[in-house]
Amino acid sequence: MTRPQLLIDTDPGVDDALAILMAHAHADIVGLSVAAGNVGLHHTVRNARTLVDLLGAGIAVFAGCTTPLVRAADEDAAFVHGRDGFGDIGFPEPKAGVADESAALALLRLTRERPGELTLVALAPLTNLALALRLDPGLPARVARLVVMGGAVTGHGNTGKVPAEFNVGFDPEAAHVVFESFPQFELVDWEASLRHAFDETQFDEWLRAGDQRADFYGRIASTARSYNLQHARRGVIAADALAMAVAIDPSIVTHSQTCAVMIELDGRLTRGATVVDWTGRLRRPAQAKIVLEVDQARFNVMVQRALGMSG
Ligand code: BDR
Ligand code: CA
Repeated sequence: MTRPQLLIDTDPGVDDALAILMAHAHADIVGLSVAAGNVGLHHTVRNARTLVDLLGAGIAVFAGCTTPLVRAADEDAAFVHGRDGFGDIGFPEPKAGVADESAALALLRLTRERPGELTLVALAPLTNLALALRLDPGLPARVARLVVMGGAVTGHGNTGKVPAEFNVGFDPEAAHVVFESFPQFELVDWEASLRHAFDETQFDEWLRAGDQRADFYGRIASTARSYNLQHARRGVIAADALAMAVAIDPSIVTHSQTCAVMIELDGRLTRGATVVDWTGRLRRPAQAKIVLEVDQARFNVMVQRALGMSG
C-alpha cells in the first residue's frame, strides 16, 4: 500500500498530538496548518513546532486564524488540555520554525501543486478550511478525501453548550461553510470517540512499552486524563486519533451511515449543534459519511506503533 499523503489542520491539543504521532508513523505529513481552538493560536502553533522537533521531521507549520470567522468563541479547552494546550509541562522554545505563509493560503497552494493526491484531515475548529473555501471554492475538487473530527451526531457533545461538540461549537459558521461546500466527506464525531476510548490500564501499558514518543505523550496527556476521570468520562478518549485512523486507513471503518449533516447557527439552546437527517426527510444531498464503528483492535495497533511499541 502506498503511504497516504496527509495535509493536517490541527489545534494541538493533546489528542491532536497523538493523531500527529500516528500520521508520522503510518503516512507522510505534507504540512500542518494550525488553528486556534483548544488554546490560543500562539500556543497551538508552538505546540505544533514542539511536535515537529520531537519527530525530527522537516514538516512545514503554517499559522492560521487567531479567532473564529464571525463570532468570538465562548470558551477554549484549556481546562482540559492545560493552559498551554500540552499539559503545562513547560517545554523549551522549539527549534522548528513557522512558514511565512498563512494556513488557508498554504492549503490552497499545496492542493494545487498535488491535485487529487492529498487527504485533508481536519482536527480543529474549521476556521482555516472555511477561509480557504471562501478564497477558492474549487478546493474540494482538488483533495482526495476530507476527514473531519467534529460534531455530535446524537447530541451529547462536550461543551458548555450541551448539544455541541468542541470543534464545531468553537466556530459554527466555519463548520457550516465546510459542511455546505464539500460534496462528500467522512465525519468522526465526539460520540464515536467515546465508543472507541482506550482502556486506562491497557493504555498505561502501551505508554510503558513505547519509546520517547510514549514518554512525551504520557506527560502531556496527564492533565486531560485527570479531567476526564473527574468528569466521569470513561477510558482514554482520543477523538483526533480516531479521525486520523480513518484518514490513514478507511478500511478500518466497520459501520457507517451517509446522511445530510448540517450545523445549527442560531438556536436559543442549540447554536453549534450537529443536525443529522438520518432518514432523508429533508431531501438534501447526503454528503457526510458518519463513522459509527471502527475495528478497535486495528485502531489499538495503529496507536501502539505511533507510541513506539515494537512487535
Ligand atoms: C475535539 O476538540 C478538541 O478539544 C480535541 O482536540 C478534538 O479535536 C473533540 O471535541
Ligand atoms: Ca483538535
